[in-house]
Amino acid sequence: MKKKIKKIIEKKNKKKLVCLTAYSKNFAKVLDKYCDIILVGDSVANVLYGMKDTHKVKIETMIEHALSVSKGIKRSLLVVDMPKGTYSSIKYAVKNAKYILKKTKCDAVKIESNKNNYKVIKKLVSLGIPVMGHVGFTPQFNKKFRVYGLSLSEIKKMENEAKKIEKAGAFSIVLECVKKSASRRITKLLKIPTIGIGSSIECDGQILVTDDILGLSGFYPKFVKKYANIKKDIEDAVSKYAKDVIKNKFPKKQNSY
Ligand code: KIV
Repeated sequence: MKKKIKKIIEKKNKKKLVCLTAYSKNFAKVLDKYCDIILVGDSVANVLYGMKDTHKVKIETMIEHALSVSKGIKRSLLVVDMPKGTYSSIKYAVKNAKYILKKTKCDAVKIESNKNNYKVIKKLVSLGIPVMGHVGFTPQFNKKFRVYGLSLSEIKKMENEAKKIEKAGAFSIVLECVKKSASRRITKLLKIPTIGIGSSIECDGQILVTDDILGLSGFYPKFVKKYANIKKDIEDAVSKYAKDVIKNKFPKKQNSY
């Protein structure tokens, strides 16, 4: 097992894991100092490409963004989402995960659970490919956004699913939009860390989409906390620039050759 991955697992019950998404070098460079894990999420589809969901993002797109992010990372663990359809069979998953690793030199891939694909995880891990799991709301497989773990039977199903993913060898697992009581039970049940998004303080770590916490995406569900209003900063800067250009105040002598 890679040293960096071992360290992530060892943090369970000791120190919370700080995780965020990044799609480019400049963002990754800033995040790297603070994050245990930087995820090149397939959320790039919605956030950067304005797609309605994550379903059509291509493996080559993920690779290009991961390559950019890798240039900004020195210490964080780099995880790349495998896009929908790229791990629909064991054979296909092996081919595509190997391709992502070879091209990007990332540390791990993330796979959303469809309740049955823990066998895919088992195969990848047996080949030395570290895998992060993902349960609860899984945007590649669930169309409608909702909270998971509202009933005891659903909690039990999720516990079972998470346990299978752990047994298959995943080093961590994202819990997306899982109710607090369910997150607590799953986190207690597993030896690997749980990383929550909209899944309460009970998880071993947290992840959010960076553009959301910066106030850039315009997507602010209850589980997002806006730590900045970058949209407003960009607007202020661009409006000043526009005024300067129109009034012939830019470029000045010091900006000219
Ligand atoms: O694609 C993504 O950004 C994710 C999250 C867990 C944030 O999967």
